[in-house]
Amino acid sequence: MANESAEDDIYDVVGVGFGPANLAFAIAVEEHNESRSPQERLRAVFVERQPDFGWHRGMLLDGTTMQVAFPKDLVTFRNPTSSYSFFAYLHDRGRLVDFVNHQTFFPTRLEFNDYLTWAAERLDTEVRYGRTVTRVDKAPPAGTATVLLDDGSRVRTRNVVAGVGLTERIPAWATRSPRCFHNHHFLYRIAELPEPKHNRFVVLGAGQSAAEIVAYLHRTYPHAEVHSVFARWGYSPADDSPFANRIFDPSTVDEFHRAPAGERDRLLRLHRGTNYSVVDVELIHELYAREYQERVRGDRRLYMRRASEVTSATETTDGIDVEVRSTLEDLTDTLRCDALVLCTGFEPAGIDALFGGLIPQGGERNVARDYRVRTFRDVSAGIYLQGGTEDTHGLSSSLLSNVAVRAGEILDSIVARRTVNGGVVAVEECGRRTNPTPLVSSEVR
Ligand code: FDA
Repeated sequence: MANESAEDDIYDVVGVGFGPANLAFAIAVEEHNESRSPQERLRAVFVERQPDFGWHRGMLLDGTTMQVAFPKDLVTFRNPTSSYSFFAYLHDRGRLVDFVNHQTFFPTRLEFNDYLTWAAERLDTEVRYGRTVTRVDKAPPAGTATVLLDDGSRVRTRNVVAGVGLTERIPAWATRSPRCFHNHHFLYRIAELPEPKHNRFVVLGAGQSAAEIVAYLHRTYPHAEVHSVFARWGYSPADDSPFANRIFDPSTVDEFHRAPAGERDRLLRLHRGTNYSVVDVELIHELYAREYQERVRGDRRLYMRRASEVTSATETTDGIDVEVRSTLEDLTDTLRCDALVLCTGFEPAGIDALFGGLIPQGGERNVARDYRVRTFRDVSAGIYLQGGTEDTHGLSSSLLSNVAVRAGEILDSIVARRTVNGGVVAVEECGRRTNPTPLVSSEVR
């Protein structure tokens, strides 16, 4: 436990969460420290609630690929010569030539998780695994905050960088159980499921995860029916065309952040199809072909329940009864199943609960271009958000596309604020402006 009075025990940064976003940031800090004098180095610690590093391990389905090109790795767009690039990883693993022969920009998720884990293990950074940050509070000396952990320990710091990711969205009617679960835990739950008795699964949702799970269940359980239930008429393809893809460019963040709120909303709505409720077109064609072949053979077990919704799910002794309502005909079917998989998406994780006393809640929040949240007047520690800033920084906010560049921008901001007045940081007034300007050193006292 940190001695709260000793200046030496004050960290420059505490990172909450150690997923790809804070991993990219930790690398940026390490690379900064390598070329700086001891006084200029930043002291950082990261807290991660998982027992070790892992990237959405419950969804590492065999053969599933990345939705982002591999050069958008942890470092390349910030520092193309970094030793933490995906190419450096491939070289280290002895697969560089083989990967290039593969001629793809999109490695499997399994391989990308291995890359991220390799990077996390190479880093010489303090990471407290198996610990959850429960709250961040004000601390007495100007410019610091106290980070509270679930083991009762506390860490004092000048800056907090929250990279807490997303949290699962569960419909109001659903109760989590071994037979009714969110897809985020899919591989774990399916491994624990008893031998199927009813040979029937329902998958709710029409996004990439839903389609991947439909394909997986259909392939893995050759005698089971798989019912894909969604509100749409059919799966819609992900727009990964090059002009639209520019919505994820690092430079887009500048233009987006400067734009009026109404314009940002308009663009987010127009380009949702690059990321939300869409499926890779190859997978759509694969599933269509499978369904069509079943129709030819007259032996059906893959069902697309279009314009439909699940209205309830009731556990039985050996299964789960799922009510599927066709919104077109207003007819309800009860399907006795082995499991219902909720591919119902994610929402930004609970920043409000973590920083309750330090920053304005939800809609009132104001995040500057450098990802620093405007805090209440009496808070002077720097609080930065990696993720959950889609409305101010654009669609790449919760994705991998921009983690390298964003990590560098946050690092630059922390370093700039630290160098002004020997580390005494600004007291920021809780923002009321709808279009905040970036923090510049003149704003830092
Ligand atoms: P991420 O969720 O990865 O990490 C957050 C970490 O914080 C977690 O490890 C969590 O345990 C920890 N944490 C949270 N609260 C904490 C607390 N209070 N204390 C301690 N630790 C805490 N994006 C993309 O660009 N291309 C892609 O191909 C994909 N593919 C993809 C597949 C699947 C199955 C999912 C679910 C998501 C994607 N994504 C994606 C989107 C995804 O959000 C992105 O890939 C990264 O995981 C984002 O990294 P973060 O570090 O922001 O969050």
